Amino acid sequence: MDFRSRLSESAKRLKSSLIRELLKYANVPGVISFGGGVPDPETFPREELAEIARKVIMDEYRFSLQYGTTEGDPLLKEQYIRYIERYYGIHGLTPDNLLVTVGSQQALDLIGRVFLDEESIIAMSAPAYLGAISAFRVASPKVISVPLQEDGMDLDYLEERLRKLSPEESKRFKFVYVVPNFHNPAGVTLSLEKRKRLLEMAEKFDFFIVEDDPYGALRFEGDPIPSIYELGGKERVVLLNTFSKVLCPGLRIGLVIGDEEVIRLLVKAKQGADLCSPSLTQRITARYLEAYDLLEKLKTTLRLYREKKDIMMEAFEKYLKDLDVSWVNPQGGLFSWLTFPEDINTLEMLDVGKDKGIIWIPGEAFYIDGSGKNHMRVSFCLPPKEDIVEGARRLRETVLAYKKIRAQVR
Ligand SMILES: Cc1ncc(COP(=O)(O)O)c(C=O)c1O
Repeated sequence: MDFRSRLSESAKRLKSSLIRELLKYANVPGVISFGGGVPDPETFPREELAEIARKVIMDEYRFSLQYGTTEGDPLLKEQYIRYIERYYGIHGLTPDNLLVTVGSQQALDLIGRVFLDEESIIAMSAPAYLGAISAFRVASPKVISVPLQEDGMDLDYLEERLRKLSPEESKRFKFVYVVPNFHNPAGVTLSLEKRKRLLEMAEKFDFFIVEDDPYGALRFEGDPIPSIYELGGKERVVLLNTFSKVLCPGLRIGLVIGDEEVIRLLVKAKQGADLCSPSLTQRITARYLEAYDLLEKLKTTLRLYREKKDIMMEAFEKYLKDLDVSWVNPQGGLFSWLTFPEDINTLEMLDVGKDKGIIWIPGEAFYIDGSGKNHMRVSFCLPPKEDIVEGARRLRETVLAYKKIRAQVR
């Protein structure tokens, strides 16, 4: 049977992730990886979770080992509403404003299913989170790629593009997708002024905003900025949140916060996807939130990430400054974003990097149109401190060797 001849149009558009391919190298002994965008496993509260998991299985098996409702565990929602009040300062939420998803990734997929088709138009940053690109690509919408600046999306550019849409196209313009804090991959944060302006634009051009915020609680410097949801409310914003980066991704707990109608639509789509999120991990998370102060516990993690980030920035100053490289110094999250001179192709350079024992994620992985070749995403949270310095040194060696090879080829 030639299965390929029977593929759906959307399956034909599926691409395997460059990141997943690359991360295979991360496990080769001696290789230092700046590539992985995952939290440091040493920060996972394994003793606490093990104890809770046992109780949840033994004492609450009628719930935790059974199917649950598509909307999610009521107890988790109750705990989560408290967390959201404290962390985001968002009040007045009811369980009907929440949907528990299998990570934020599922929320992105459901949003794609519910709101997008081939005629749709959306806007997202360039570079953008790869998982969002994959989730939205299934429907094949037209994407307006908006350049990123130090304070987030270039809203002048977006406004100009929106003005140019015909009245008929404007109706098909659905939403702007934003990662407001410590952007993946670019590390930048959307300023308060831009958050307000984006909301004004949403009113003026009649679209909604998908605010995807996995990293906001990972701020280790500077003052927090109100979320777009807090500023604009459920009329214009759907907020995605996740426990992946603040607790652990293995639980696969994400939450959508939005208008009751939006939640109902997403629930319908989720029924076809997986019936419900796992009862077991939902209840473990609920009991964990009940027993521990997540934000208090996070402080230790943030101290560690800040220290690692500072080490990386210092190492870049030492090893990359004179090579005409610039980088983002993030105030939180997991990533920095490097910009090399135009003639450096970071995907091509990766072959040299692998020889020298250092890998990263090439910038073009995060662009829809294959541009961004002179950028790279690096993460400081996973490598041990000494590896961060050695990795930066190897990166320098790699750049020098790559330049030499290129000069010879010419
Ligand atoms: C911007 C962004 N959104 C969503 C996700 C998905 O997270 P999860 O499905 O683990 O909640 C990630 C993960 O890296 C991310 O960086």
